[in-house]
Amino acid sequence: MEVLENVSLKKYNTFGIDVNARYFASVSSIDVLKELLADETYPNPFIIGGGSNMLLTKDVDRLVIHCDLKSIEVVDDTFTKDEILLKVAGGENWHEFVLYCVNHDLGGVENLSLIPGNVGTSPIQNIGAYGVELKDTFYSCEAVHRATQQERVFTLEDCAFGYRDSVFKNELKDQYVITSVTFKLTKKNHKINTEYGAIYDTLKAKEITHPTLVDISNVVIEIRQSKLPDPKKIGNSGSFFKNPVISQAQFTELRKEHTEIPFYPIGNEQIKVPAGWLIEQAGFKGKRFGDAGVHDKQALVLVNHGNATGAEVWGVAMKIQAAVNEMFGIKIVPEVNVI
Ligand code: EPU
Repeated sequence: MEVLENVSLKKYNTFGIDVNARYFASVSSIDVLKELLADETYPNPFIIGGGSNMLLTKDVDRLVIHCDLKSIEVVDDTFTKDEILLKVAGGENWHEFVLYCVNHDLGGVENLSLIPGNVGTSPIQNIGAYGVELKDTFYSCEAVHRATQQERVFTLEDCAFGYRDSVFKNELKDQYVITSVTFKLTKKNHKINTEYGAIYDTLKAKEITHPTLVDISNVVIEIRQSKLPDPKKIGNSGSFFKNPVISQAQFTELRKEHTEIPFYPIGNEQIKVPAGWLIEQAGFKGKRFGDAGVHDKQALVLVNHGNATGAEVWGVAMKIQAAVNEMFGIKIVPEVNVI
């Protein structure tokens, strides 16, 4: 195992922020991962997967472990009549895994096409898009406990998934490294999900009446490419903020003044409102402050146009947070991890 010194993390985070890791190692086996976690020369290592859900605002003065575990294997091809279990190593790129499924006619993750990041970090924030969340196909995951290097299997229940949330963001924050995720996928009788408006509309426009997994994946890719910046071209971390959930009473007040506000009821008492809409109303869509800014087609996405520092992006985030709070009395909070 090779531990490098003073390595730029620019290519390891999708925001493309150029900070240095004091020490850096890429691991491709669980044994090496355990060895590094146990090594007292490098206390409290920082784990990086696809680097797609973080904003690095300063150098990382510790060991950065880049989790590069690879493999995809069918662990049970007759789990149920219609479903198989597929175990995928944490270092596999999420979108390549989705394409693997679509090309092998395995259903369940096609709506999650083109989400940046790796499989191993997908459970942490229960990634989601276009009517589907990771938890819908999640069967279990394996993880190594950072302090003891013990391996543990987490079931769906153990993970306590919520909207962009899981046990790994709460009680067990920074305690485990997820090494693989096992998915429950359909091999026949796929449950095609076209409930999200833009998917439905795009399929209709293309006159596709019986969409296949490939059709759904292609439509999602098309929708995402029309709204979301490609991290290879413009640094970004997807949605920077979570969509806030407010009380019915607060929403009723808000709607008196902003009659056109989009909303999604959650149960009978709470309402989720799109942060992208709030940010657009506050006048930030497409705004640029030096190289840090707000995407011009989706205000929820902050971008690095080239050489922004993490602190500059964070400064824009703070401006937005204050303006939205001032205008709507709603505090929007980051979805990404700010380091
Ligand atoms: N909207 C605006 N202005 C904007 C952006 C959005 O008015 O600049 C309005 C839209 O018109 C629409 C509503 O806000 O009425 C919702 O917009 P959209 O469908 O684009 O979804 P979102 O709520 O902004 C969420 C996820 C995305 C995911 C999409 C589609 C969060 C924080 N974000 O965005 O996830 O792709 O739904 O399912 O929940 C990500 O997490 O990185 C991500 C991109």
